[in-house]
Amino acid sequence: MNILLLGSGGREHALAWKMSQSPLLKTLYALPGNPGIAQFATCLPGDPSDVNLVVQTAQKHSIDFVVVGPEAPLVNGVVDALTHHNILSFGPTKEAARIEGSKAFAKELMASAEIPTARSETFTNATLAAARALEWGAVVVKADGLAAGKGVIVCESGKEAAAACEQLGHTQAGATLLLEEKLSGPEISVMALCDGSRYALLPTSQDHKRLFDGDSGPNTGGMGAFSPSSLLSAAQLHELSEAIFPKILSEMAKRNCPFRGVLYCGLMLTPTGPKVLEFNARLGDPETQVLMMQLDEDLIPLLLSCAKGLLTKNNIKQKSSVSVGVVMAARDYPQAPKIGDSIWGLDTIFGSKDIHIFQAGTSIKDKRIVTNGGRVLTVCAQADTMEQARALAYQSIESIQFQGAHFRRDIAKKHNE
Ligand code: AMP
Ligand code: GLY
Repeated sequence: MNILLLGSGGREHALAWKMSQSPLLKTLYALPGNPGIAQFATCLPGDPSDVNLVVQTAQKHSIDFVVVGPEAPLVNGVVDALTHHNILSFGPTKEAARIEGSKAFAKELMASAEIPTARSETFTNATLAAARALEWGAVVVKADGLAAGKGVIVCESGKEAAAACEQLGHTQAGATLLLEEKLSGPEISVMALCDGSRYALLPTSQDHKRLFDGDSGPNTGGMGAFSPSSLLSAAQLHELSEAIFPKILSEMAKRNCPFRGVLYCGLMLTPTGPKVLEFNARLGDPETQVLMMQLDEDLIPLLLSCAKGLLTKNNIKQKSSVSVGVVMAARDYPQAPKIGDSIWGLDTIFGSKDIHIFQAGTSIKDKRIVTNGGRVLTVCAQADTMEQARALAYQSIESIQFQGAHFRRDIAKKHNE
């Protein structure tokens, strides 16, 4: 098959690496890809959220299947447009992707499907939201729309929350705001491949969203991940996923927006039981980097069966090893990441089968790989135990350098808590 992969992050590099191992693949194209993805794919310039460009590119290169990585093209309706032109693609329609594109819509779905989640209120006026936040006190303020992981502010006081309302209220994503009850507990990401009515769980993982060690500092898109999570036993995971995925899938089908693609459920295990924090309409980043290393079967048939509405598997094979991924970010990420710095040492690790460096914010300048975005690399390692995988990932990081590189030193450290 000729496959077109949309996106340019570490997630897409990991998808390209995994798909390149499939005997089903003839040629892989990426729009726009990155220098890491270029090891496996022909990278084509352009914006993957430009729906017309994606359709034209798919037609020009006789693409049989389009795999969509990021949320923006989905929310823009890329799957709808490709379907209209009889091109098979993996990902939800525009309407179904609203489960990620609008947090207020996701809340409404959860309420109808009786899925446990934090109490919330929705506002279309930031000043009213700020006034209410002063009454609530410590509360979580969320922008309704897409904000690349930066639309959620967890506040310690009403005053802080009121300021967060004003701050997010000025952004495009924050035209509608949500105030949400502040929950506590460990977090787990549970992702499932869905075909509109059925689902198959991917390996579990845990992300580290805060910028600094000890889960301090602002939220980011994710600073590191590991897989699998040991927070839930197999029986607990089964019970939990049965209480979420069939209900949300049937609610969406009932509303004429059946969900095909990856449904990502971000959960907090609170003292009063697991609660859903968010749904995403795509794979997580950096979770995908470790998930692809854990997956013990061909990815392409799984994605194809979802796209065709023919998912028959409910048990996806995963390796018995564990994987850890540490994000190396550019200086001043997430506010104003500095770009254009040379990256040294990428080739020192090349060739080890237990270590993979997935590129995200990179580009080529004067034949050198340089930084080109906030999250630059995810350095991933696989081993028999989490301690070993951690040690291997951090050892690898030591040999990679770029000016102002920032990474957390505690990824997967508390993997048992
Ligand atoms: P979200 O994008 O909604 O998953 O939020 C990003 C991060 O903010 C989550 O991974 C949590 O760490 C934190 N968060 C979101 N909602 C809540 C909540 N209701 N209570 C406490 N923390 C939250
Ligand atoms: N790592 C969190 C996300 O992809 O949304």
